[in-house]
Amino acid sequence: MAMYKVLVMDGVSEKGLEPLRNESEIEVIIGNKMTEDELVAVIGEYDAMVVRSATKVTPRVFDHASRLKVVGRAGVGVDNIDLNAATQHGVLVVNAPDGNTIAATEHTIAMMLALARNIPQAVAKMKNGVWDKKAFLGVELRGKTLGIIGLGRIGSAVARRAQALEMDIVAYDPYITEEKAESMGIKLATLEELFPVADFITVHMPKTKETYHMLDERAFAMMKEGVRVINCARGGIIEEEALYKYMKEGKVAGAALDVFEKEPNTDSPLLELNNFIATPHLGASTAEAQLNVAVDVAEEIVEALQGKVVRNT
Ligand code: NAD
Ligand code: MLT
Repeated sequence: MAMYKVLVMDGVSEKGLEPLRNESEIEVIIGNKMTEDELVAVIGEYDAMVVRSATKVTPRVFDHASRLKVVGRAGVGVDNIDLNAATQHGVLVVNAPDGNTIAATEHTIAMMLALARNIPQAVAKMKNGVWDKKAFLGVELRGKTLGIIGLGRIGSAVARRAQALEMDIVAYDPYITEEKAESMGIKLATLEELFPVADFITVHMPKTKETYHMLDERAFAMMKEGVRVINCARGGIIEEEALYKYMKEGKVAGAALDVFEKEPNTDSPLLELNNFIATPHLGASTAEAQLNVAVDVAEEIVEALQGKVVRNT
């Protein structure tokens, strides 16, 4: 007889749930997409919950989660889980910080190359029966300066790959030391130094009060003419209205967003611009990453339910 019920949401990799299924005292229930009201109605039955980014674990959900001991986020960002409410209710929140680093890194590099060479636009034309060789003059990455904001796991993995593409790197991250940056062959800069020199800018930090709208009107005004901007981190770090304005007037030559302030999002005015490309929050969507994060979070939930020391909180 199972002692613990674990609700798994958001299409978390089935194969990665084995650590949970291997425990006889744990029953795994796969949930379909639910509204907040629907989740509130059932959450009282569960001892643990696994989510990706679609399910919002709000204060109301915690208020009704009388048995809940742990919420696992199969990914890095825990911004869809209300951490204050979790703390108030004594619920542990765990994530999987490493499992999707390479996936998000490679997606960032793919976006940068796609921007530089107009690949999505050229594909779309060909599929519409148009062989347009003249419209898509690209730029090379070699010798260009990449401004990286946030030099953590993904930011530094992007830096290594960009160095292999012979780009110069300039980075801003107030929480890492000069020595750490130097060990990666990178010089740290202030934002005021980074914005005017970067040909490409990519952001890789969490969404916090400090990073929300960090790329706003004022930041775009400081940027180099013809800059290209990429966000595969979190919607809201770039102020979308300011980006639209600077793309429209031509200062920003291109932008690639994997994440939006409002998600899902198919009606952003940015989508009307030819030099804007986007993906629907696919940064972590590789088979490898989804297996990694599901296994990591499933193991952490087993540890938490069995009262063991959890490796990540
Ligand atoms: P990380 O914690 O390893 O690195 C984040 C870095 O941001 C840290 O070095 C930190 O010092 C820095 N930082 C914090 N505040 C900052 C500020 N105000 N200015 C500049 N730098 C600041 O995280 P990570 O694993 O590299 O993930 C980075 C981001 O990517 C997170 O927001 C994560 O949620 C997101 N992510 C998105 C996808 C996706 O599907 N698109 C996939 C994985 C991760
Ligand atoms: C993350 O923060 O890990 C990403 O948002 C990945 C995801 O989509 O789950």
